[in-house]
Amino acid sequence: MNSTAVKPVFDIAEIRAQFPILKELVHGKPLVYFDNAATSQKPRRVIKAESSYYATINANVHRGVHTLSTKATEAQEAARETIRKHINAKHAHEVIFTSGTTASLNLAAFSLGQLLLKKGDEVLISGMEHHANIVPWQLACERHGAVLKVIPVTDSGELEIRRSDDQMIRQFTERTKIFAISHVSNTLGTINPIKGLIAEARKRGIITVVDGAQAIAHLNVDVQDLGCDLYAFSGHKAYGPTGTGVLYGREELLERMPPWQGGGEMIDVVTFEKTTFAKLPFKFEAGTPHIAGIIGLGEAIRWMEDYDKAAMAAHEHLLLEHATKELLTIDGLRIIGTAKEKVGVISFVIEGVHHYDLGTLLDQQGIAVRTGHHCTQPLMDRFGVSGTTRASFACFNTVEEIDSMIAATKKAVKMLR
Ligand code: ALA
Repeated sequence: MNSTAVKPVFDIAEIRAQFPILKELVHGKPLVYFDNAATSQKPRRVIKAESSYYATINANVHRGVHTLSTKATEAQEAARETIRKHINAKHAHEVIFTSGTTASLNLAAFSLGQLLLKKGDEVLISGMEHHANIVPWQLACERHGAVLKVIPVTDSGELEIRRSDDQMIRQFTERTKIFAISHVSNTLGTINPIKGLIAEARKRGIITVVDGAQAIAHLNVDVQDLGCDLYAFSGHKAYGPTGTGVLYGREELLERMPPWQGGGEMIDVVTFEKTTFAKLPFKFEAGTPHIAGIIGLGEAIRWMEDYDKAAMAAHEHLLLEHATKELLTIDGLRIIGTAKEKVGVISFVIEGVHHYDLGTLLDQQGIAVRTGHHCTQPLMDRFGVSGTTRASFACFNTVEEIDSMIAATKKAVKMLR
């Protein structure tokens, strides 16, 4: 982060002015966008970066000698360097571009499965994982005869681990080869204490994979400080374009991992008898990437870095506290996920009110929330609910917007009960 360029004061009006979509009306009402955990809105700078690639330098990367191809390659690789710095990776080639966290985790599970898993080995995940950090591991376990183990979740929505002794995670065994864990839960908002967990896994020689989809827009992510082997995230939840994502990997591990997808760009020499693969990161980037999106993602990261992250986080925390306090004044409302350490994500159920009906009525008032299982069906089962209503905040949201949601929810509850 370039501290001289950082804007020290968190000016919500100035931030909001940069998001064209916030001027839209929905059902004739000003848009209140509380679905940032699904996808955040994009500042003008990001939209412009993506469209100017198409308007001025559209060409394929790493392929042509012509001017446009060179410029497109330079712009894409500048985005890679921006991301490297942002997450404090050692090398730019440790940053692999994917289509999103789901693709990053599928790559990780496929490739690590091939590299590490044998019959009877174990992969450990947690009970609060998104389906994208469950299903790829299930598939890998099925392919290699390994077993998927799960850390349970407490009533407050935290990992059931011990905090003080040597074995924080009792599910680590001699057979555990991979530990895949979310940094932040998309449904509960819980921030997991991953640094300590990663250290414990590493002591045992277990490879660590972090699903950072919900962390990248809200927390400082320093992959060297965390000590993780792989870290996955999406661009579109961090003010960047959809269809973009990253898999960070430690160089030494990435070198050993076999490729996931085959095709152009990821090869060195191809014959019908044998193919040798390109160097990092290209070994994992088969086919034409989402060049415009990657350039937009670089711009989104630069945009975030222009602001004081602590001030942004403090603002989002204030929104979370206000929403929590006000929601709890609603009769029969239960918050699912009351961990001490949370980002601005709040899931709730209301007695006698179906989340889908509430979501529909809130939409009538211009308020966008997500309803359903949030791609965490096992977590819904753990809490004995079929789904929740989830409000998830970004730096451009305001206390007044939360008050509108509370008023609209109270009105809807009266109608629905
Ligand atoms: N994973 C996204 C969410 O939590 C889609 O809504």
